[in-house]
Amino acid sequence: MLPLHERLQRVVEILKISNKQLDEFRAAEDTGFVSFWPEKTLLAVEELVKIRPPPGISVDLGCGNGVWLLLAAAAGYDSYGIEIHPGLVECAQENLERARFEGLIPDGVKVEVAVGNFYPPKEKAAMIAYRDERNENPSSMPWEEDIAWDHMPIAMQDVDIVYCWAWPGQSRFLYNWLERDAPKDAIFALPAYLRYTQGEHMNASFHEPNKLVLTKLNESDVFLGKRAE
Ligand SMILES: C[S@@+](CC[C@H](N)C(=O)[O-])C[C@H]1O[C@@H](n2cnc3c(N)ncnc32)[C@H](O)[C@@H]1O
Repeated sequence: MLPLHERLQRVVEILKISNKQLDEFRAAEDTGFVSFWPEKTLLAVEELVKIRPPPGISVDLGCGNGVWLLLAAAAGYDSYGIEIHPGLVECAQENLERARFEGLIPDGVKVEVAVGNFYPPKEKAAMIAYRDERNENPSSMPWEEDIAWDHMPIAMQDVDIVYCWAWPGQSRFLYNWLERDAPKDAIFALPAYLRYTQGEHMNASFHEPNKLVLTKLNESDVFLGKRAE
């Protein structure tokens, strides 16, 4: 098996090809999908390994074509991805097969992608009320009755690392749900967390303020944090 950095670098190459294909697909289908930069995600995963080494369980909420999912798996974390868009789940699965074929994911590391909603049913009414208050487009904050957790061998309480790159409009709802449901000692990997929590997206006067208060653990573009003591 290649050393960690080389493995991650090879996964980045798989993701870059996938992103290019998705760009062409988006031009045709307008899915609105944007992937976080694989190279920046690589740096964050390397930092995570120093802060909280594998083994562990990582979940990628809204995994798209699998940027965090696959880099976390290549680093040695059991990795679970949830994605509402079936076409993106297929992409993530193809990228996973490729990474496995190239020997980039250590033996024994579990990786699964589930199609469906990452919010549990108890959040439905509050999520729709939040979306309506903000006049958010339902396509950027979709409600889907098929709950992905029902198809997965783990529950939110089992997770050690939570990754999610939310659209700006949904960030406050998402963070408040994570504050309620994510394990207290989880590490959060949240691109844009500081920008969203300090920026205009969180300052609207309606709805409850952000309650997920995190201590920063790194300086990279993917914010790594844990709950403030
Ligand atoms: C900003 S993209 C991030 C994609 C990828 N994780 C990354 O970091 O590049 C947000 C993703 O979350 C998915 N998504 C949004 N709401 C969701 C939900 N409630 N359940 C599952 N997936 C959702 C979208 O389809 C989209 O692929």
